[in-house]
Amino acid sequence: MAAGTNYDDFAQAYADGNESSLLNAFYERPAMLQMAGEVAGRRILDIGCGSGPLAHELMTRGAFVSGFDASQAMIDLARSRLGEQADLQVADLGEQLLYAADTFDDAIASLVLHYLEDWTRPLAEIRRVLKPGGRLLLSLNHPILYPWNHPGEDYIQRVQYTDELSFAGQPASLTYWHRPLLETMTAFLEAGFSIEKVWEPPYSKDAPEQIVPERIRERDAFLSFIFFELLSGKWGLLLSAPADSVPGGGHLPDWTPGRRLMDWRMRELLGSLGRCALSEPGW
Ligand SMILES: C[S@@+](CC[C@H](N)C(=O)[O-])C[C@H]1O[C@@H](n2cnc3c(N)ncnc32)[C@H](O)[C@@H]1O
Repeated sequence: MAAGTNYDDFAQAYADGNESSLLNAFYERPAMLQMAGEVAGRRILDIGCGSGPLAHELMTRGAFVSGFDASQAMIDLARSRLGEQADLQVADLGEQLLYAADTFDDAIASLVLHYLEDWTRPLAEIRRVLKPGGRLLLSLNHPILYPWNHPGEDYIQRVQYTDELSFAGQPASLTYWHRPLLETMTAFLEAGFSIEKVWEPPYSKDAPEQIVPERIRERDAFLSFIFFELLSGKWGLLLSAPADSVPGGGHLPDWTPGRRLMDWRMRELLGSLGRCALSEPGW
């Protein structure tokens, strides 16, 4: 788990708040479920599943859900919610995952990736356990949050920062990695995903009025997270092989099948970038 954030220290307090908070129960979770759509019969991996509220909703909708979390205390709470038979384990997204290749139709990572600095291995592992063409749905702290909450800080740098919060009166220290939007999206594309959707959803209309701050009650307000729907490309692993592991040192003659696949994948990658037309120049 990321140094500085250990959910074991405040698991029950966080889980209690998550059940009814505006940010989780009436914003992040309904948006994620809407993005997931019809899930009956799908095999879904809930990454950083916490105490299991999303897994529970997905199972209620007919999905077959496996979940893991770096926090033993969170997994204990998930197990008491989902039952002894639930497929749950303590595991770190930064390490090799204990699932076979091509297992899942979808992977969902709600509010997890921003705890990790290096996404290379996590994204490669998620691709490995997803079926070709499988979806990765994820939510993150919106990159605007860091300069919003820390005025004067630099948006354009990747940087670790800590927020001191309180869950049900219990102090909690959360340490995140801020990265600008372009770096985030480039990491997805370089890992072999295509970006199908980027979303800044409003909070749910079902939110009880008393938990919605007065200044945003009258509008479809974005609160603080950004959502992505990614698709695992079929050939990305070939592209991501280091040049010296490819026969010919990465300089394959044009006619080899490997080279053609790489070119095809590269065109897809550049096509995705072109579709996004993103640029965040420094100054
Ligand atoms: C903000 S909570 C979200 C929990 C759940 N996804 C939800 O939305 O209700 C973040 C969760 O990610 C877990 N987590 C953080 N870093 C992790 C890592 N490297 N590997 C697995 N889980 C991690 C934490 O233990 C915590 O349960």
